[in-house]
Amino acid sequence: MAVEMQAGLASDGGSKLKMLLTFVDSLPDGQEMGIYYSLDLGATNFRVLQLELGGRNSMILRHKVESHPIPRYLMTGKIEDLFDFIAMTLQSIIDKNGVAEHNPDLRRELGFTFSFPVRQTSASSGILIRWTKGISIENAIGKDVTQCLEEAMSRRGLNMRVAVLVNDTVGSLALGHYHDEDTVAAVVIGTGTNACYVELREAIIKSRGLLTNSGGMVVNMEWGSFLSSHLPRTSYDIALDDESPNRNEQGFEKMISGMYLGEIVRRVLYRMARESDIFGDAAHFMSAPFSLRTPLMAAMHEDDSPDLKEVAKILRENLGMQDVPLRARRMVVRVCDIVARRAARLVAAGIVGILKKIGRDGSDGVATGRTKGEFRRSVIAVEGGLYASYELFREYLKEAVAEILGEEVARNVVLRTFEDGSGIGAALLAASHSSNR
Ligand code: GLC
Repeated sequence: MAVEMQAGLASDGGSKLKMLLTFVDSLPDGQEMGIYYSLDLGATNFRVLQLELGGRNSMILRHKVESHPIPRYLMTGKIEDLFDFIAMTLQSIIDKNGVAEHNPDLRRELGFTFSFPVRQTSASSGILIRWTKGISIENAIGKDVTQCLEEAMSRRGLNMRVAVLVNDTVGSLALGHYHDEDTVAAVVIGTGTNACYVELREAIIKSRGLLTNSGGMVVNMEWGSFLSSHLPRTSYDIALDDESPNRNEQGFEKMISGMYLGEIVRRVLYRMARESDIFGDAAHFMSAPFSLRTPLMAAMHEDDSPDLKEVAKILRENLGMQDVPLRARRMVVRVCDIVARRAARLVAAGIVGILKKIGRDGSDGVATGRTKGEFRRSVIAVEGGLYASYELFREYLKEAVAEILGEEVARNVVLRTFEDGSGIGAALLAASHSSNR
């Protein structure tokens, strides 16, 4: 991972890791004041957030969130239709909350969290490289997503400007840093997976000439697309990839994130059912791709009843499998365990890759912490639905970080969760990049 990071920073296309520039070179520090918004567009929902900031010390005074599902038909149509729908919803939310604002004539500023690979042209604009996580709106590729959103907002008569365009990991990093200035990286493990971190400008070789200041800049790794012959890929991973609409892409993501884990488990079980008699003649119940969703996998995995009642219930109610014997149910739990554990360990390895790249993995044996002999404290903000709702996954992840780094270094590596970081962080960044400031 660390080697590929370097290659991706050296030239565009130098690695499967895109290592995208974000143009975010300062993170919110608590001085921000006023009312800001964020619009967080992920794979299944979009969230609108209003944040009131009180400046020095008073920090976040108030925040309101509204979450809306994206209608399926809009995920494969035209970008104008999706953004018109979003602008319409945004407007109705603002109308509802408008009274809270002191100056309704002021142009509102928005942090736009757009969780897909974007080639940024500035901190507030960028071009969609391609879709991930199952969305495919062809006419958006190659377009400036900020411009598309601003056009949709102005079609609705909304007086609003995109102050920053960020990836969800970048929002997460911003909120992490706002609360804890030792935060150096952020990881999202949800429908997809990705990470960003603060890199030194001189290490971003491909940006030579473009960035003149020294200091740091946040880099969006798009680690979901990482692929290496060192990855422990199995025939199940290869078949899943072959049958996916984005073959040869998002290889790391396909072994880790919520969109895929349940499907990997299903593939393993389906083969067991076909090639043995452990599930009797029930193999056909497991034949439909993506019929075993990751939340169900997690629920089966975490079933701690002695006779695995929950496993039996899920297999019955969701896959139609009646009376699966206890021996087979135990096997199901075992498969979930292996698949989740592998995913968590891959994330841990990725985190250590980042720490290694920025010289915080303790491998040089130099303890550079504030106290003599101590390693520097490094905080990683971690969020995402899979991470938040899968306790065993969190345990395995933490365990693996300690195993790779060794207890002494790992003691200073803190994984912290900040709820709604991608949205709140984007509103904070809108504040720190505001033209009203
Ligand atoms: C996918 C997207 C990436 C995003 C991640 C988590 O990997 O390409 O931009 O950060 O999902 O939502």
